[in-house]
Amino acid sequence: MDQYRVVGNPIKHSKSPQIHQQFAASTQQDIEYSAQLVAEDDFEQFVHDFFAKGGKGLNITVPFKQRAFAMAQHPSTVASMAQAANTLWCNEAGELCADNTDGVGMVRDIMLNLGGHLAGRRILVLGAGGAVRGVLALVMAQRPALLVIANRTPSKAQQLVESMHYLGRVKTCSFAELEGPFDWVINGTAASLTGDLPPLPDGLLAPQARTYDMMYGAEPTVFSRWARAQGAVVADDGLGMLVEQAAESFAIWRGVRPNTRQVLSWLRQQL
Ligand code: ATR
Repeated sequence: MDQYRVVGNPIKHSKSPQIHQQFAASTQQDIEYSAQLVAEDDFEQFVHDFFAKGGKGLNITVPFKQRAFAMAQHPSTVASMAQAANTLWCNEAGELCADNTDGVGMVRDIMLNLGGHLAGRRILVLGAGGAVRGVLALVMAQRPALLVIANRTPSKAQQLVESMHYLGRVKTCSFAELEGPFDWVINGTAASLTGDLPPLPDGLLAPQARTYDMMYGAEPTVFSRWARAQGAVVADDGLGMLVEQAAESFAIWRGVRPNTRQVLSWLRQQL
């Protein structure tokens, strides 16, 4: 049976095995997909051995996405822009290929599942770490009217934009310097993980503004609660992004795109 893994550290709570097993069942693909904990020092050796033994594909999660990109002989354009990869496979010549499906996953979730539009909108992105790096190229591809990146450490936002020079005109600032109104606020900080909220000024949201938290949980995240209190008409979380990025990886590996709707509603019930 064709072998797939999701690799990270930690990895225990990954939902990817359940998601991919459901995709496989619904598309009649005979695959085995499981989670693999890999020690920090062992990542490159693990990837090498996995493909040498005939493994078909890897999903890569924290903290290995940048190292996965660095290993690839054939990174996709999107992975090169992000300098991070979440999907690995080998071509027929046995060379390592890499893509990053996080940005496609988020934008597909926003547009197809949630009926949102980013084109021509004023967009604020919070955070300047790996999560944001993975999605910026796809957000910019939607041609927003304005893209501002605000971060607790503003110099990191500036460095991120400078390292992604293809982005074009993107403004960066601290949270305190922020001035609205924005049509969208996308939270890519790790603050929700610890139940923290970035210190955001009031009045950032335009009428009809929507928000998207890349994190998710059984209850609305602290960021989503803030958004509702500030008047956001819709405050979505990132569970759909998780499912959509997985579907994109599955399509790369198997050449068939699974339906995500049922998996997403099933996962929501499990939270
Ligand atoms: P990830 O891969 O999840 O993006 P990361 O690369 O460590 O993780 O980036 C975490 C992001 O969340 C950063 O933008 C970080 O801000 P700093 O650059 O100032 O460290 C942001 N972050 C983490 N905890 C936060 C908090 N409590 N409030 C606001 N921002 C926070």
